[in-house]
Amino acid sequence: MIILGIETSCDETAVGIVADGTTLISNVIEKQTDIHSEYGGIIPELASRQHMKNISNAVKKSLINSKLDWSDIDMLGVTDGPGLAGSLIVGVNFANGLSSSLGIPLVGVNHLEGHVFASWIDNENINEISFPIMCLIVSGGHTDLVKMNGYNDYELLGRTRDDAAGEAFDKAARVLGLGFPGGPEIEKVAAKSNEEFLFPKAYMKGTDDFSFSGMKTALKNLADKELNNLYEDFKLDNFEFTVNKIANSFQNSMVEVLAKKTIDISIREKCKGIILSGGVAANTILRDVLKDSSPLPVFIPPKILCTDNGAMIASCTFFKIREKISKSLFLEPIPNKSW
Ligand code: KG4
Ligand code: ZN
Repeated sequence: MIILGIETSCDETAVGIVADGTTLISNVIEKQTDIHSEYGGIIPELASRQHMKNISNAVKKSLINSKLDWSDIDMLGVTDGPGLAGSLIVGVNFANGLSSSLGIPLVGVNHLEGHVFASWIDNENINEISFPIMCLIVSGGHTDLVKMNGYNDYELLGRTRDDAAGEAFDKAARVLGLGFPGGPEIEKVAAKSNEEFLFPKAYMKGTDDFSFSGMKTALKNLADKELNNLYEDFKLDNFEFTVNKIANSFQNSMVEVLAKKTIDISIREKCKGIILSGGVAANTILRDVLKDSSPLPVFIPPKILCTDNGAMIASCTFFKIREKISKSLFLEPIPNKSW
């Protein structure tokens, strides 16, 4: 079954085509980084306007890249939430239009569930995925720890009580004067340092929740204390050295907490493996630390399928149909859709 998936919940206009939920055929991702980076964050109004400009071409490009035509597409999937209302409206209405004009059935997909299914795509170890499995979804808007007992059977065990992990990376980068999105920028400069400041790690003992605001405040205090004087005295080499060291300390703290809590809770819950997904799962240190320290098998999609994409929505659609969980509908966006 060949499925075309559309994703516009945030600032990527993305369209992917996947066969049988597991084989990637095409993956078009139109980013809006240049538009939002000058504001240091996503401006919802600009995001939805840009989706309107991009969506038609992204769909066409995805089809051209796949060397297929509409008669080959068996099903459509679209993210209907959670996400930015104006952004979701563009993708959902475009998908409604395609579905009714071409007569192809359409399924609405939860964006976070889509992130999980990125692990099913082009995964040579797919047969080792067995339930229950723990899913850590770390993105710009969410940090959710979800026990997946089977298809469409999710238990939300923990979530962030303040900033999402990606949001904390983005805010940390802004304090350090780095670019947007902050995660890849922090990762880049942290790689230049092997020194660390003493940094707090919020384990939130006794709960399965996360909290990153303390680490963000610690970074701000450290930047005020260590960087301001260097900048004023034009000690620019020292300034760069210290930015890299702060970024390294922050990244290591974030990674340690995310990896350790996820592994401990997965073992407690007798899970058979761990899935790491969402934009922050593109972080090399997090990928390596989780894999190296977990006694359970760890599944992490390739980096391009960790950040927002349409292929993960197509894959999730396939399993919803196969398991008879969803049927074709005329959809409405659900900005606060939950598990
Ligand atoms: O899943 P995603 O593409 O969009 C949302 O659903 O939010 O995640 C975007 C987030 C951003 O906050 C970005 O800074 C973060 O993922 N991110 C990273 C890395 N690449 C993207 N965080 C840490 N390290 C990275 N390499
Ligand atoms: Zn996402």
